[in-house]
Amino acid sequence: MRRDEEKLREYYAEAPEGVSLLDLDLERVPRHVSIIMDGNGRWATARGLDRSQGHVAGVDALREAVTTSVRLGVDVFSVYAFSTENWRRPQREVDLLMHLFATTLVNELPLFHQENVRLRFLGDLEALPERTRLVFQRGLDETADHTGMVFALAVNYGSRAEIARAARLLAREVAAGELDPGDIDESALSERLYTAGLPDPDLLIRTSGELRLSNYLLWQLAYTEFYVTDTLWPDFDRWEYLRAVIAYQGRSRRFGGVVRS
Ligand code: IPE
Ligand code: IPE
Ligand code: MG
Repeated sequence: MRRDEEKLREYYAEAPEGVSLLDLDLERVPRHVSIIMDGNGRWATARGLDRSQGHVAGVDALREAVTTSVRLGVDVFSVYAFSTENWRRPQREVDLLMHLFATTLVNELPLFHQENVRLRFLGDLEALPERTRLVFQRGLDETADHTGMVFALAVNYGSRAEIARAARLLAREVAAGELDPGDIDESALSERLYTAGLPDPDLLIRTSGELRLSNYLLWQLAYTEFYVTDTLWPDFDRWEYLRAVIAYQGRSRRFGGVVRS
């Protein structure tokens, strides 16, 4: 996708030791990068702060990651912000997160306009507080005609619920006589997922060292390359992101075939 190389070099001007933009192959930047943003609570606890302050700090990291994705020329950038299981957290923390989603979205609209970013949501938004839902709708409306990177925010997202929903949608179409069961194939199911129309992630990053998917994009990650860093989400910056992409470029993706030389 279009990328401003001048801006990219400027963005990555002050390299810390051990990582360099020169190691990046601009021809092989992943089309879709996805991140499980984890470790906000531990980041806060380690500093003697309340978990909520970890989430607030996490917003700054997310803003930087959106900008980094644009600078690198990624087509789709998706992040896991709230899972269907996260409702199990203390009410106070859930309320803070819902408030933070709404406030952040309003605050970041100028950035989305400036960078031509189109917003998209993955998940069941019906269950969200009204203000959050209204703000999300405003974000969708205001960015609908943007033609640059797609930024997909997974909120009240659970992969099993998503797949069950797709099965329900297919069953309804069959019952209504609109679909032949024999036509239900991989793409028919894909088209009924929240990610319909988006390419599968090429690179999945998880912060805070956890080696699990936590019900995230189970279908879509079939051939995705994983990169796990011990860095906690609020500390994840453009350099960590660059390290992940460079590591991804060193992988040999075979998709079940053999290596081509
Ligand atoms: C990720 O950080 C943010 C959300 C899940 C909303 P956590 O809140 O899970 O942080 P840890 O894992 O407890 O450190
Ligand atoms: C996954 O993180 C969900 C998000 C990042 C939104 P969790 O912190 O909820 O995952 P577990 O509970 O450690 O698996
Ligand atoms: Mg966590």
